[in-house]
Amino acid sequence: MRKNIVAGNWKMNTTLNEGVGLAKDVNEALKNVTPKCDVVICVPFTHLAPVCGVIDQQKLGLGAENCADHKSGAYTGEVSAPMVASTGATYVILGHSERRQYYGETAETLKEKVRLALDNNLTPIFCIGEVLEQRENGSYLDVVKGQIEEALFDLSAEDFSKLILAYEPVWAIGTGKTATDDQAQEMHAFIRSVIANKYGNEVADNMSILYGGSCKPSNAKALFAKPDVDGGLIGGASLDAESFMGIVTAF
Ligand code: 13P
Repeated sequence: MRKNIVAGNWKMNTTLNEGVGLAKDVNEALKNVTPKCDVVICVPFTHLAPVCGVIDQQKLGLGAENCADHKSGAYTGEVSAPMVASTGATYVILGHSERRQYYGETAETLKEKVRLALDNNLTPIFCIGEVLEQRENGSYLDVVKGQIEEALFDLSAEDFSKLILAYEPVWAIGTGKTATDDQAQEMHAFIRSVIANKYGNEVADNMSILYGGSCKPSNAKALFAKPDVDGGLIGGASLDAESFMGIVTAF
């Protein structure tokens, strides 16, 4: 069944102490509410094991922000999917536009990462989204379709069904410029139709498609009210427990 999900992406923020404190705060806040969505925090690699020790994963899921495109070996500085899984984390963000833009991630490397994540029982939160120029020249639907097809359409229906997708228009990330709820709905409905054409209506209907890009407590309600928006991937606003909870409770 399609789930509503609010996931935080802390990016490269917080020291270990700060991160453990933030995780504790979110965990504590969740004791007082019964959210109408799954709640996940995706944190820096260094924070995974210690954060795992202070949260109740029945109420607060834990994920990494990336993993390597190899299982093990001579890849200095990389962190593999088995390593992430060994910390107790169960999610991993893959294909974030910042990884694509600054670290040259391609559909080919992302295919490997998705494969390794699934092999290690990690749920990929797979990001897609167009840049401003593509939004303005009208190619944004084709761009996002291509990102999905190139990296994910080799998967079996069973494996594809294990993914969470996150539509993050690059022009809305960290800019304060959110996509309107109608813009998000247009894209999410389109993504669902692309999935339906490949894998059928059932897989498409059950897929959780999150919106990301300057999502905050003040705009989350309108975005989440759209029929094809199943939650959010939250950057800046996930770094403060109160604002993150403001988004969680927007459902
Ligand atoms: P902001 O919420 O800071 O715009 O970041 C969105 C994002 O990139 C989440 O992955």
